[in-house]
Parts: sequence; structure tokens; C-alpha cells
Amino acid sequence: MNPFQSVKEEVRRAADIVDLIGQYVKLRKVGRNHVGLCPFHAEKAPSFTVSPERQTFHCFGCKKGGDIFAFWMEYHGATFPEALRDLAERYNVSIPETFSSDEERKRAAQREALFKINESAALYFEKSLMHSGMGKSARDYLAGRSITPETMAEFRLGYAPDQWEGLTAALRKRGVELEKAELAGLIIRRDTGGYYDRFRGRIVFPIFDLRNRVVGFGGRVLDDSVPKYLNTPETPIFRKGETLYGLHASHKAIRKKQRAVMVEGYMDCLALRNHGLEEVVATLGTALTERHIRKLKGYASEVVVVFDSDEAGIGAMLKSLPLFLNEGVSARAAILPDGHDPDSFVNTEGLDSFLELLAHAPLMFDLYLEQRLRPGDSDPEVKIRVLREIIPILSQLRGDSQRLMYGHRIAERMGVRDEVVWSELRAFRKKSSTAAVGRHLKERVETASGGKRFDDLHLLNLLVHYPEVAPKLMDIEWQMLVSDPSVVEIFGAFFKEYSRRGPFSPQDLLDALAGEGARQLYREVLMEEPHCLPAEVDTALLEIGQKALQKKISASIKRARERGDIEGLNQLLKLKAQGTTTIS
Ligand code: UTP
Ligand code: MN
Repeated sequence: MNPFQSVKEEVRRAADIVDLIGQYVKLRKVGRNHVGLCPFHAEKAPSFTVSPERQTFHCFGCKKGGDIFAFWMEYHGATFPEALRDLAERYNVSIPETFSSDEERKRAAQREALFKINESAALYFEKSLMHSGMGKSARDYLAGRSITPETMAEFRLGYAPDQWEGLTAALRKRGVELEKAELAGLIIRRDTGGYYDRFRGRIVFPIFDLRNRVVGFGGRVLDDSVPKYLNTPETPIFRKGETLYGLHASHKAIRKKQRAVMVEGYMDCLALRNHGLEEVVATLGTALTERHIRKLKGYASEVVVVFDSDEAGIGAMLKSLPLFLNEGVSARAAILPDGHDPDSFVNTEGLDSFLELLAHAPLMFDLYLEQRLRPGDSDPEVKIRVLREIIPILSQLRGDSQRLMYGHRIAERMGVRDEVVWSELRAFRKKSSTAAVGRHLKERVETASGGKRFDDLHLLNLLVHYPEVAPKLMDIEWQMLVSDPSVVEIFGAFFKEYSRRGPFSPQDLLDALAGEGARQLYREVLMEEPHCLPAEVDTALLEIGQKALQKKISASIKRARERGDIEGLNQLLKLKAQGTTTIS
């Protein structure tokens, strides 16, 4: 075993997958497994399954799955060496310096370098803010905006002095490779050679990942000049469409309160925290994406989005409703009074007023209806248009009771009979019967009842849940029974391992499987309930033996026929008719 492998196993022994994943995804125990909403694709009903016995996860929707390392890589966008190192660190397993491939080593090293440079820059900005002369205007500005020293320290706010080569010089002095600092988005190459600072004369807001590493920065001017904010461009460690400012500091509170408050700006987030509201995150001015919501839904089932009351705010709300519905996250919309943003509101009206606003925030769906249907608007054309627009959304709702409630509400508000809404919904459903929702289930049901593949899966289920049947199955000529290439691959690998070293852990086999199809299938079967109870295993084996025998006879019959061996054929047919117990 290479040293790498032994670290992996040691980490596996130390970690508990339900524990680990449970910190990122809300899991509920169902039978032997834990289920939750998949963090890797849009879904409203949980198909993300974690097995404590197997120490694996698998999503029956998007088919992603694997062990704790696979989860870590997928969730954090990390390479394998990074995942190994992170988890080893987390579980106090010491690790030798090895990497699985050159490519991975390079990527990991590059990301590592960017984190390090960002950290150096953050320190430089922090120091500049605290510099007695240079940082004074910035400190005054923050004080003027009621940011407390505690919040400043917690979020590591800084200042980029108004110089062309402040950070550039500081990084050069520290021996940082400037091309890497450019890749980190901190400095910009001059046409004439050399570099200059991206952030100049700005308050700097470092942006953190969930492990408190600096992934990027935002910078605000101290006056009215434009652009008001500058942000780090997309880099290998900074992806705007999924980054939520403040989440590193608020995720515990979000989980505890089971709700997240979502605002738009850095200052909004900080102002609310300043006043003691902890469960707040900001989207950094970019449009809300489903990846933002997926990041949150592991922590809370409800998000209150705070919108401006202007047209842009309402527009943003209308656009985000389908995203929330798609992710199965309940969304409410708090609308601020005219001319306010969360920062100005909480600073003038106080936290209690803001909490009041949150408490009365209507469901986004209701607000949507209200915005679309002006009171007294009885124009049938308008009604039809709105109904057409709303039906797809209604169709997406999780759970029939929820749909019933909303359907009724729509009908009521529009002044039509409920039946009108339901018939529109049925018509829409018919049109889109291939909707992704539930498609995988349908496929599974269809293929599983297709006879041949059912045998394959049944046999695989038996082997996986009762590995002690392996020697008997090997005797039975299982090859007669399975035809699915993935199942064949799994059986082959299983028996090879089994003959080599006897019983082994299911995880080991996952590593031994080469085909992704086979690995997916194996994970699914690991998550399944056993098809038969322990007491039924012998009977199942007997049945399987008989089935294999029947197949063998059928094959012999075919051959006898081809040879024109009438006598043999007769014997075989008799044997087959008996249902058989022996064959010579
Ligand atoms: P706002 O214009 O609402 O600014 O932009 P704000 O948060 O109220 O800022 P203050 O209170 O004037 O300081 C909301 C968010 O949009 C992004 C920033 O993330 C900002 O926090 N934004 C805004 C930019 O990226 N660039 C800009 O030029 C403006
Ligand atoms: Mn503001």
C-alpha cells in the first residue's frame, strides 16, 4: 500500500460521512440512510442519500456520489490532493507530500499560491487601514457609516492606499511572483511593462470561503466617484455566481435560526451584523443564481430576501422566485420602504424595525401574484396571460398540498373557479411530461421491470448486501444470468477481490471499478435496501441456481438443435419441463 492510500484509509476511519456532510447539507434520517436536498443539482424532493454503514453518498437524481473525498472535492471544487490534505488536517491524520498526478499537483499548487497571495494582500490592506496617517480617511469613513471596530476586525476590513504601486511594491518586497498576483486579480500589467494596483484609494472587503480563506476582494471608494465598487475578477479561486459574502461568519447562525436573510451589498451585510443580526449574507450585486441558493439550502429551509422597493428590486424578485421554487427552498420577500436599503434602514430605524419587516415578509409567491394582478383588473386577457405565466411555476411546487393551496389562492385572486387553474395545469403537464422531475425514478421503474435487467440488479443486490454468498454465486455460473455490462464489471471485480482476500469493505470495491457506469450502479445498490431478509438468502440462492440451470439447459437445447442431436434434445426438453434439480 502506498503512503497515500494509508492516509486515505486513516482519514476514512476517523471521519464519519454523515457528520461531515451534515455540516453542509441538511440531512434527515430515513430508514438506514440519511437523505437531503442535493447540493449539486436542482431538486425539490431529496434524492441525495448518505449511508452511514457504507460511508458513501449517492444522489439518485444527478448520480454524483462517492466517499468523503468525493464529496469534499465536489462541494468545495477542490482537487483530490487538496481534499486529502483538508480532511487529513481536519481529522488529525498526518500526511506525506505526495500527489496523484502532475496536472493535479499543478492545479493545487496554483490555488494554494493564490490563497497565499490573497492572504498577504489582506494583511497589507488591514495594516494600511490601521496606519495612523494613511488609513485615517478610511477609518473616518467607516466610522461615519457606523461600522464598529469589532465588525471591522471580524470581517478583516482594510484600506488600499491611493497609490499606483502600493500593494505591488509590498508584494514584490515579500518575494511574491507578480504574475501570480496578477492571476489573483490584485494587480494589473502595464502595457509598458511592470504592474499597478487594481484597488487604489478604496475601503477593502476581503471575501472568504467557508474555510475562512480569502478568495477575493471588493473595494469601495470613499466619495461619490465611479465605479463605486470594484471587485476581484473571476479567478481559479473566485467564482462570483456562487459566492455569498458573509456566509463564512453566518452559517452557524443560519443553521440555528433555520433562516437566512439575503441582501445585496457588502455594507448591507455588515450594517445588519453590526446591529446584531447574524444570519445574513450578501450576493455582491450579481444576479441571484441557483448556485447561491444551493449553498444556502444546506443550512436553512427558508430564505428572506430583502429587496428595494424600486422597479429593479421588484424585477429581481420576480426573476428569483422560480430559482427558489426549483431548489425547494421557501422564499419570502421583505420590501423596504422607498429610498432605503438595508444599511440605511437599520441605521435609521433600528434592528427591531428591521426584524418587524422580516416577520411580516410575505411569501414571494404571494407577492408575485400581487405584483402581477392589479386589484380591480378584470380584463380576461390579462388573466389568461398571468395564468399562463404562473402555471409552470405552480407545476414546479413541491408537494401536492402546497400546490393545492397555491392553486386555490391563484383562483381566488383572479376571480376564477379553481377548476380553471387545475385544467390549465393538467394541459401544461401533458405538454411537458418529460419534465426532469421524477424522470430518473421512471427510468428505474421501467428498466427494473424489464425482466432481464431486473435479474441483474436482483443478483447484484444480493451480493452487495450479503457478500458471504460470493463463493456460492461463483459456483452457480452467474455469467449465465447477468448481461448488463456494468453489472458484469462489478461481479468480475467483486469475485476477483473476494478470491484474493476474502470479505472486504464495499468502499474498496468502488476504488477497484474502472467504469463510471459501474461505479454509479454500485453506489446505488449500496444505498438500496436488501431485496431479501437474511432468512431468505438461502431460498434466493436456490432460486438463482435454478434459474442459471434453466438458462444452461436452454443453451444446450439450442446447441443440440443446431447439431441435429434428436436424442439429446429430447432428454434436455424433459429436464427443462421438470423444473429440474440436477443436470449431468
Ligand atoms: P449598491 O449600489 O446598492 O451599493 O450595490 P450599496 O451596497 O448600497 O453600497 P453603499 O451603501 O453605497 O456603500 C450593491 C452591491 O452591488 C455591487 C457591490 O457588491 C455592492 O455592495 N456593486 C455595486 C458593484 O459591484 N459595483 C458597483 O459599482 C456598484
Ligand atoms: Mn447602501
